[in-house]
Amino acid sequence: NTKFINIDPDNIDMEKLKIAADILKNGGTVAFPTETVYGLGANALCEEAVKKIFKAKGRPSDNPLIVHVSKLEDINELVLEISEKAQIVMEKFWPGPITLIFKKSDIVPKIVTGGLDTVAIRLPSHPIARKLIKLSGVPVAAPSANLSGKPSPTKEKHVTHDLMGRVDAIVCGGDTEVGVESTVLDLTSNVPMILRPGGITKEDLQEVIGKVETDPAILSKVESNLVPKSPGMKYTHYSPNAEVILVDGRIEEVVKVINKVKKEKECEGYKVGVMATEETKDKYFGENIISLGSRKDLKTVAANLFKVLREFDEKRVDIVLAETFEEVGIGQAIMNRLMKAAGYNVIHA
Ligand code: TXA
Ligand code: MG
Repeated sequence: NTKFINIDPDNIDMEKLKIAADILKNGGTVAFPTETVYGLGANALCEEAVKKIFKAKGRPSDNPLIVHVSKLEDINELVLEISEKAQIVMEKFWPGPITLIFKKSDIVPKIVTGGLDTVAIRLPSHPIARKLIKLSGVPVAAPSANLSGKPSPTKEKHVTHDLMGRVDAIVCGGDTEVGVESTVLDLTSNVPMILRPGGITKEDLQEVIGKVETDPAILSKVESNLVPKSPGMKYTHYSPNAEVILVDGRIEEVVKVINKVKKEKECEGYKVGVMATEETKDKYFGENIISLGSRKDLKTVAANLFKVLREFDEKRVDIVLAETFEEVGIGQAIMNRLMKAAGYNVIHA
């Protein structure tokens, strides 16, 4: 009973999109493409509608959602104040892959914010996302359109695989471009803090607002007695069925160690995959070697990351050995997602 709506992002059929917008307006759930990953939307101002998102994904209720708008003015009714730095970031990077945290107004239901008095807001740049939100006439709460804990969907087939039969409609609009979720930036503290690295990098932000901090929870395991600033960060994420192990170090050594561990584990009867790069893929022995792209093009690596994690599941591998990347630019987001997929399990070569 999930309705499939195919839309060409370069030639949007507004009649068809209106079917999806009406479902949103009337309290239903609709998955749709954004420039980062596919989202699962519902009317953010309607508690009953938002409940359906948590149910469809199997998402813990204390993990807050991002509210998506189609134009800048739409945020006024959702927030209490807009700081000068927020204004600068919005003007520079919206529409685009960055989410900002504001103090919320009373019209935002607590179910959206997981009980917090702040709200996360984003103005996406994907033409289907923007037109859909605009047509619906409401702000749209939307987490990534995957089952809770699974890699975020970058292709229609990922959404269908996870959510068919669990949501009212899926708008199919091709592959997403960025491939990792939006940067989450908290502007409610003195020094702005990145709670989740993403499409807009720390370097990009520092150019326009000066000093920016990174939540220490981003690249290391959060101690259980520490409350993470972004509640979502404490849950295992992006995990395929296989066990993921990162291998860190000089790339020549990494290749050696991965080949050695692969052989050992295969001897023990496990099916082992390797998450490689264009530069290294021919240096590994055996099967189930998948390249993320060239180390010289981290944007492509980011765009392929979740797709490749899902490909290892399709191949039913038991263990994935993965190379690491330098934590600069989009490399921060790549390493954050890899660390979470691996449950912080790293071997040093
Ligand atoms: O790119 C994206 O952001 C995608 C697309 C669909 O827009 N959405 C997405 O949503 O990734 P989700 O729910 O998978 O991740 C939202 C993240 C979580 O880590 C959550 O904890 C954090 O944003 N978040 C939401 N509201 C927050 C708040 N008020 N304070 C701190 N973190 C918040
Ligand atoms: Mg998510």
